[in-house]
Amino acid sequence: MKSSPARILLGVSGGIAAYKAAELARRLIERGARVRVILTRNACRFISPLTFAALTGSPALTRLFTAAAPMAGSDDFASSVEHIRLAQSADLLLIAPATANLMARLAHGLADDLLTTVYLATPAPVLLAPAMNSQMWRHPATRENLERLRRHRVEWIEPESGELACGMVGPGRLPSMEAIIARAWARLEGRAADLAGQTVLITAGPTREPIDAARFISNRSSGRMGYSLAQAAAERGAHVVLISGPVVIDSPVASHGEIELIRVTTAAEMAAAAWSVYEHCDMAVLAAAVADFRPATASTEKLPKLAHDWELKLEPTIDILAEMGRRKRHQFLVGFAAEWAAGDETSARARARAKLRAKNADLMVYNNISRTDIGFDQESNAIVLIDPEGERALPRASKLEIAHAILDAAQARRFPARTPIIIPAETPIR
Ligand SMILES: Cc1cc2nc3c(=O)[nH]c(=O)nc-3n(C[C@H](O)[C@H](O)[C@H](O)COP(=O)(O)O)c2cc1C
Repeated sequence: MKSSPARILLGVSGGIAAYKAAELARRLIERGARVRVILTRNACRFISPLTFAALTGSPALTRLFTAAAPMAGSDDFASSVEHIRLAQSADLLLIAPATANLMARLAHGLADDLLTTVYLATPAPVLLAPAMNSQMWRHPATRENLERLRRHRVEWIEPESGELACGMVGPGRLPSMEAIIARAWARLEGRAADLAGQTVLITAGPTREPIDAARFISNRSSGRMGYSLAQAAAERGAHVVLISGPVVIDSPVASHGEIELIRVTTAAEMAAAAWSVYEHCDMAVLAAAVADFRPATASTEKLPKLAHDWELKLEPTIDILAEMGRRKRHQFLVGFAAEWAAGDETSARARARAKLRAKNADLMVYNNISRTDIGFDQESNAIVLIDPEGERALPRASKLEIAHAILDAAQARRFPARTPIIIPAETPIR
């Protein structure tokens, strides 16, 4: 994104959730955006333009025609084409809430008020946050309008399900502030919502395998790579189910409303949580460092300290990636191979490639964990993406950038015609 503040035109239409747009305007400004608000006539019945003027520091716009329309050529004429100037200068047109009526007007190219005219005149990306009664949302007319809008490259965030103002329970609630803001920023940064409408399962962090009530076997995984993947997938519009082992890093759920977090401790718990989601997910990315072995028996009490050697019998845990590979139907499966490659990168990559085949994965992310500057517990990573046709090294970058590169590669394999294949080697990613 360019360094000057993002210019967001916030459109508000006449639904019961219009009052939430005031908080949204405040949050967008807090995040560094310059916000101008346009209200439909009916939006003004739900919330006063004065509220937005006070929050944004600029008058909220409500009318296409000013009271005394100036003549062409007069000094005032420039201000009468305010809608064109606004439309041209915006980085994003965000409409929240978007009513069924407004979406119908947008879908059919009506330009009968300031907001719909600006919509037609803007070259900026357009993002809608619809909110309405469930019946209205499901109505074939609304579905057709959304389909038209999709063809016109308009994006929207799926409304949330829950209790609605009308007393019904179902889809139609305005998406959460976090979801709207995350998607708005993803659009401003030029990221397509190429995972919209898809469910992505991500595992993250280590697992802990108990020895007794106080001790356990675990590993050094911090969960950062998996959490970055969850954030990246949410930014691209996915519904994310993040199954996380015990970690101390902040949960991405607070900033990305479209992430559902399931916390687990052991490999067996992670596997159990994964099966229920795997059945209906579109993509599974297994970034967790699942313990390969667990104590064959675990005491429910703390074992006393012994003065002599103590042998611990270990048994293998379930191999979640291999099992997902066996059960795979429509899902795209991404595995991680953390290999110790000190001095012998070629064999380490070969081991990762063998895992890709043995586990029936579609893409393998190879990590050299013998490097101390990347990987475990680090903010950055450098990986090699291995697919059945070849491999590509990605230079060191932040884990969020790496996460987007992994998703780019997955999407390129899933939809070869739609996206270019993995970004050229050695070019900085994003
Ligand atoms: C109390 C009340 C609440 C409404 N809430 C919604 C709503 O949440 N979503 C919606 O699509 N329409 C809602 N409507 C209907 C819209 O206000 C109506 O379709 C209006 O024409 C929308 O105008 P606009 O899209 O130009 O702002 C509501 C109407 C009333 C009276």
